[in-house]
Amino acid sequence: MKKNIAVIGGDGIGVEITAEAIKVLNKIAVKYNHEFEFAHVLMGGVAIDETGVPLPEETVKICKASDAVLLGAVGGPKWDTGSDGKPLQGHLRPEAGLLGIRAALGLFANIRPVKLFDVLADSCVLKNPGKIDLIIVRELIGGAYFGKRETYKDESGARAAYDTMLYRDWEIERIAEIAFKLAQKRSGRVCSVDKANVLDSSRLWREVVWEVYNREKYKGVTLSDMLVDNCAMQLVRDPSQFDIIVTENLFGDILSDEASVLTGSLGMLPSASLAGICTDSRTESVIGMYEPCHGSAPDIAGQDKANPLAMILSAAMMLRLSFDMDKEALDVENAVERVLAKGLRTGDIYRGYDGTKIVGCAEMGAAVTGEI
Ligand code: IPM
Ligand code: MG
Repeated sequence: MKKNIAVIGGDGIGVEITAEAIKVLNKIAVKYNHEFEFAHVLMGGVAIDETGVPLPEETVKICKASDAVLLGAVGGPKWDTGSDGKPLQGHLRPEAGLLGIRAALGLFANIRPVKLFDVLADSCVLKNPGKIDLIIVRELIGGAYFGKRETYKDESGARAAYDTMLYRDWEIERIAEIAFKLAQKRSGRVCSVDKANVLDSSRLWREVVWEVYNREKYKGVTLSDMLVDNCAMQLVRDPSQFDIIVTENLFGDILSDEASVLTGSLGMLPSASLAGICTDSRTESVIGMYEPCHGSAPDIAGQDKANPLAMILSAAMMLRLSFDMDKEALDVENAVERVLAKGLRTGDIYRGYDGTKIVGCAEMGAAVTGEI
């Protein structure tokens, strides 16, 4: 099969980790007789430096015309302040590029699987983690990150700022549907997370999620609600109670970083951002953007220290979710597991145990490629 993949290396370690994912994909292409064509495009800080804006039109055009997008990471201290030393305005920051491309491609569903590999059980921050295999389904193009906002001086001269967390029923409906469909393929437990004891947007969230659940009668799926502060606590108290967590944009951003350390490191967490979900018959084709949950880690950028596994596992999600290549995806995932079982560790997951060896980003990528 021939597929066109847009690649946004971005900033910091983004370029290093995407290079490793491409090596893995090239190997898959050879082994399974596919043709993957990669188009490298600019976004984030590097785009600001080269074109003056975080998301050039050209990038949006190429991504829209591609079968899928691979994204490393964007941002870094270099672009926190402008030439006058003042904090850069939101729309000029590298992150605006990321939010912009998500919106431009309509990627409303962010799927973040949180899975603790058996061989990394020692790296989990919990003493007795049990089985951790959950998915955070985060609404990605609504809520406070996209609502009306303003920074101004009020009548008294005080500096003031606000952001608006706004949701429409259809925005909640479509993400709830994704969570329920995913649940049908797993153990069937969906926990909808909100702050309905305080926020209007959360009360609407809860109402609509239940409406969708009762209307569509998802067979074998159970639904429960949890307040976000409780969920933050339950995630570290007993993560094995969760199967699918569905939540709005800001809560999902925070909870997914929290959940990531349960897997040993933020460097292990892949993600998919989708404009919809393939049905079982797989007749729909949906564009997806695949990126690790971690950031650009400027402190270790360019030093061959980054963990490329979240990026490589994101590429596996791309194979499965956008290209319908289940076998190939599993091959990549198994290769990652074997490399870890052999004791290879990047710095973030290295605990100094016998039989483990610390390796750099390129060596880790090469090892995974070698296992395919
Ligand atoms: C993430 C990141 C982004 C987000 C930032 C970089 C804008 O934290 O993907 O979780 O908040 O969505
Ligand atoms: Mg985040």
